[in-house]
Amino acid sequence: MQRKPVVIKISGNYVQPDNPALIKSYADMLRDLWVNKGIRPFVVVGGGKVARQYIDAARLNGANESFLDMLGIMVTRLNATLLATSIGSNAVLPVPSSIEDIIKLSNDPSERIVVMGGLQPGQSTNAVSAIVAEITGSNIIINASKIDGVYDKDPEKYPDAKLLREVRLSEVKELLKQQLSYAGRYELLDQISLTIAERSKIKIIIVRGDDPSNVEKALNKGFYGSIIYPD
Ligand code: UTP
Repeated sequence: MQRKPVVIKISGNYVQPDNPALIKSYADMLRDLWVNKGIRPFVVVGGGKVARQYIDAARLNGANESFLDMLGIMVTRLNATLLATSIGSNAVLPVPSSIEDIIKLSNDPSERIVVMGGLQPGQSTNAVSAIVAEITGSNIIINASKIDGVYDKDPEKYPDAKLLREVRLSEVKELLKQQLSYAGRYELLDQISLTIAERSKIKIIIVRGDDPSNVEKALNKGFYGSIIYPD
């Protein structure tokens, strides 16, 4: 059976050891996509609050940004391993940690579910999700995020900020141009992820990650926060 590859990015905030029930419902949803819907999920898991705790503690003690990114990557892989273990034998373990691993796995006839974390310093797991989409030929990324979607301005600073339901990639790039990139603080989408999505015409759908069924709904063209269309 040739399953359709779909990249799903899950914020690390929803794959933390303090909420095994939520991890289980993500695992069930992913297994269901694999068993019943002809989809092969390539899942990229973020670092969430645990990554930020490590990064903040090490930053206070003088570690440089690349090292802090490495700490973040370790936590993303720990979270990814937790989710892959919860999926069981339909998922690849140990979780892949290089581009070469993903290339090999994308041609693996067992078509098992792939769950992974970060790759290298200087980017976020959103960039990883774009790279994985490019390699696997997924023309879509479902981004299960801690935010609702793309706003026309920072909703934390401006109460009148508007959620943009449908937005062009070039507009998002412009909106996020001023964003700074530090370990643990790559916001909504980093420039790397947008550049890759642009060159390979990948659509990004942002949904709230606190409920795994939002991912399924987005796949069925149901509820979503924002859709970012390639230009
Ligand atoms: P993320 O910031 O991508 O995690 O990775 P996240 O959980 O998706 O983010 P939130 O919580 O929803 O906002 C955690 C950290 O790991 C490092 C970065 O420092 C990043 O902030 N990282 C991750 C890398 O350096 N390279 C990668 O490829 C991935």
